[in-house]
Amino acid sequence: MSESLFYDVYDELFASKGYIEEVGCVLKLASEALGRNPARILEIGCGTGNHTLALADSGAALVAIDIDPLMVSRARAKLDAAGKRNADIQLVPVSDLKTSGFDLACALFNVITYLAPRKSSMPSSKASARDSPATESSSSIAGTA
Ligand SMILES: C[S@@+](CC[C@H](N)C(=O)[O-])C[C@H]1O[C@@H](n2cnc3c(N)ncnc32)[C@H](O)[C@@H]1O
Repeated sequence: MSESLFYDVYDELFASKGYIEEVGCVLKLASEALGRNPARILEIGCGTGNHTLALADSGAALVAIDIDPLMVSRARAKLDAAGKRNADIQLVPVSDLKTSGFDLACALFNVITYLAPRKSSMPSSKASARDSPATESSSSIAGTA
């Protein structure tokens, strides 16, 4: 099996997913909350760029990030092919993102499940559960993934 098979078939696997409708819903909620359309958007975990493309269609200045180089290269190629110049796609984990000042930050389709909890924000009883080996493992996965 090719190392990149998953990446090659990713869009095929999720071809029937309602990326455009999901982004429409998120933008509607954001616009209602802001009282205007979001002008600066952060997308965390952009994957191959399907939500990214729909978000870029809004015309907002978009920063899309992912920690996977093969996902990022596919997303960049997809946005380039569509002629979208308002999307800055970066290879960076969300924990290292330096840019701020977004009107909207979204993490769509199982991105949150990859992210590590912040141990320091947990009450002590929960913190000790979080410090278990299983959690250390989860943190490492999220930190390196
Ligand atoms: C299930 S995919 C969803 C991709 C895309 N949003 C979609 O709907 O097709 C989750 C993505 O989150 C990315 N990811 C995981 N941990 C991350 C982190 N700490 N910072 C940024 N991206 C992360 C993964 O590399 C993966 O591309």
